[in-house]
Amino acid sequence: MLRCTVKNFAYFATFLTIVTNIYIYTYPSFHPEQCSWECSNQNVASREDLTLLGKVKRYFGDVQKGWHGNHASANDNDDIHILAFGDPQIKGIWPKTPYVSRLDTYGNDYYLGHIYDMMQKRLKPQVVAVMGDLFSSQWIGDSEFHNRTRRYISRIFKRDPASIERIKQENLDGEGQYKANWSKWGDRFNEILSNINENEIANQELSFEFGYEDVYSWNPELEDFLIVNITGNHDVGYSGDATYQHMTRFHDLFGKDNYWIEYETNTTHPWRIVVLNDLLLEGPALQPEFVEATWMFLNQLNERKFNGSTILLTHVPFYKREGLCYDGPDTRFYPDGHTPETYKAGLLRSQNHLSESVSNQVLNLIFENGKPGIILTGHDHEGCETVYNKKSASAWEATKDIESDIFVKEITVKSMMGEFNGNTGLVTGHFNTDSMTWEWTFSLCPFAIQHVWWFAKVSLLVTIFTWSSLLFV
Ligand SMILES: *[C@@H]1O[C@H](CO)[C@@H](O)[C@H](O)[C@H]1NC(C)=O
Ligand SMILES: *[C@@H]1O[C@H](CO)[C@@H](O)[C@H](O)[C@H]1NC(C)=O
Ligand SMILES: *[C@@H]1O[C@H](CO)[C@@H](O)[C@H](O)[C@H]1NC(C)=O
Ligand SMILES: *[C@@H]1O[C@H](CO)[C@@H](O)[C@H](O)[C@H]1NC(C)=O
Ligand SMILES: *[C@@H]1O[C@H](CO)[C@@H](O)[C@H](O)[C@H]1NC(C)=O
Repeated sequence: MLRCTVKNFAYFATFLTIVTNIYIYTYPSFHPEQCSWECSNQNVASREDLTLLGKVKRYFGDVQKGWHGNHASANDNDDIHILAFGDPQIKGIWPKTPYVSRLDTYGNDYYLGHIYDMMQKRLKPQVVAVMGDLFSSQWIGDSEFHNRTRRYISRIFKRDPASIERIKQENLDGEGQYKANWSKWGDRFNEILSNINENEIANQELSFEFGYEDVYSWNPELEDFLIVNITGNHDVGYSGDATYQHMTRFHDLFGKDNYWIEYETNTTHPWRIVVLNDLLLEGPALQPEFVEATWMFLNQLNERKFNGSTILLTHVPFYKREGLCYDGPDTRFYPDGHTPETYKAGLLRSQNHLSESVSNQVLNLIFENGKPGIILTGHDHEGCETVYNKKSASAWEATKDIESDIFVKEITVKSMMGEFNGNTGLVTGHFNTDSMTWEWTFSLCPFAIQHVWWFAKVSLLVTIFTWSSLLFV
């Protein structure tokens, strides 16, 4: 009797395990258009007019295509393929954290890692960009920052954390934990800044080295694509919070916050990636010299008079009126008598968007050549698509539709967190040889709330347990 019940339950659990695991391991095939690179001669029936049978066929067609590895090799090999992940915001574990939350945080790393794995293997991107807010809080210590970076590298991106372990060994505190050596980083930063400000011809040895050319991997022995980590307010803080400590540990463990990489510069179709720390563009700032350095970066970028298309990667979206996206404009400052940090009175505390004038200045500096481009941002979690139309020599206006000959699209990438369904943004760049311009398209590939992933994993364990228990009843 008991044996019979257990056996029935085992069949039931097996069935659920198979269904849920097939789902989580083939989820992009349920949205094949959104989860594939844009192809210039694509011939897929559009979603609305498909019957159920049509949908099933489409699903199996896509799964089969995946088996043959055909999603990655889209028909045009000269296209540019970028995956963008919005605001993962991984949380920490503290001595008082209840066990359930600990388990949740642990599982969440692998949930995010599952999304990355699926999309990376399916699509073989050239660039993977994480749109800032890698972590959930800027108010954490150096050791915790290092520990989260280790989780970010090894659990989500499945890479060897040896490089950051080495950095830890070079920067130990008394208890053998990582401690950012901010006085060393700060001395170097200020030395470079004053060298550039004081000398007509700056000492070549002392520069921020913002520029790169034709970089396809930071570490060609290990990987054939780029991972770009963007600074978010939860990683380094808004300009009213950002300290030398914040900047040092981000540079130590994630790399530079401002740089450009130019590609195919001597061809008919040059393009570039610009990574911008736009948290440090406005003030009042705690360390105004950081803001100065960011503007220095933008001016150097502008002086290159680059004659191609630009992909701008940054965290905080550009100014737009209320109603276009989930977040409206909202900028806050620390009040007088803000305790215990009274020294922060009047400093920039938070912003949903850059201010209108800074938005115009940045757009003018980066998109001066009038070539089409694309901006990817994070920050608001809900996602949004807007167009910045150049309305006069120096003013850009955000709208839903294209309203000017010169325009740039801004995509606020919807968050990859479980609450927002674990999204991945896909950017395809295609060079149109008739118009001789790059064309950029974006699509959002959703997964599912984290409970679905949990259910698939737990039901696998339950199934194994139930079948094994049959050996004993
Ligand atoms: C970071 O990880 C190390 C090694 O596991 C551990 O000793 C340390 O306490 C952790 N730091 C924090 C702040 O939890
Ligand atoms: C920081 O770096 C400087 C210069 O390399 C070194 O002299 C100093 O001991 C380091 N400080 C700490 C706390 O490791
Ligand atoms: C971004 O971070 C990952 C993990 O630390 C690292 O592998 C990668 O090289 C970093 N990117 C840059 C540009 O430093
Ligand atoms: C492009 O041309 C310039 C000027 O001729 C040269 O300095 C540069 O090295 C070239 N870049 C590449 C990637 O070939
Ligand atoms: C810039 O690119 C356009 C094609 O988009 C080309 O016609 C023009 O000659 C280029 N200008 C320079 C200065 O190279």
